[in-house]
Amino acid sequence: MAIERTFSMIKPDATKRNLTGAITKMLEDAGLRVIASKRVWMSKREAEGFYAVHKERPFFGELVEGMTSGPTIVQVLEGEGAILKNREIMGATNPANADEGTIRKTHALSIGENSVHGSDAPETAAQEIKYWFSDTEIVG
Ligand code: CMP
Repeated sequence: MAIERTFSMIKPDATKRNLTGAITKMLEDAGLRVIASKRVWMSKREAEGFYAVHKERPFFGELVEGMTSGPTIVQVLEGEGAILKNREIMGATNPANADEGTIRKTHALSIGENSVHGSDAPETAAQEIKYWFSDTEIVG
């Protein structure tokens, strides 16, 4: 499998509970390398822009509110099959359905406060990385 890059976020519900290191360790233990990382407090406009694909969903307001409620760690991860690997270690969107040992099963509180986000495909990974990082901030 090819070396890929994917975009990851450690969401405010997790940073508020001081889980940045614990979650990053789970990503690294899964074989992913953090090649860019910064801590941001999203504006409403940034959160709405990032999640624009969900703007017609009933949970959109709640999603934006959660993402602007505290700091988020935005990261670029690199590794063999990184997009799928990251989704596997994150677990299902709803932690109630997530497998044992995944980040969401271990740390997430609910579907809305699900601790992490990860890109679902190569196209979205490229878009999401570009949304938060310039090329010079990514050091592989
Ligand atoms: P994420 O992977 O960041 O992508 C979109 C987010 O919307 C998702 O994780 C959840 O946090 C959130 N989400 C999806 N479905 C629901 C829902 N039914 N209720 C509240 N939040 C949701």
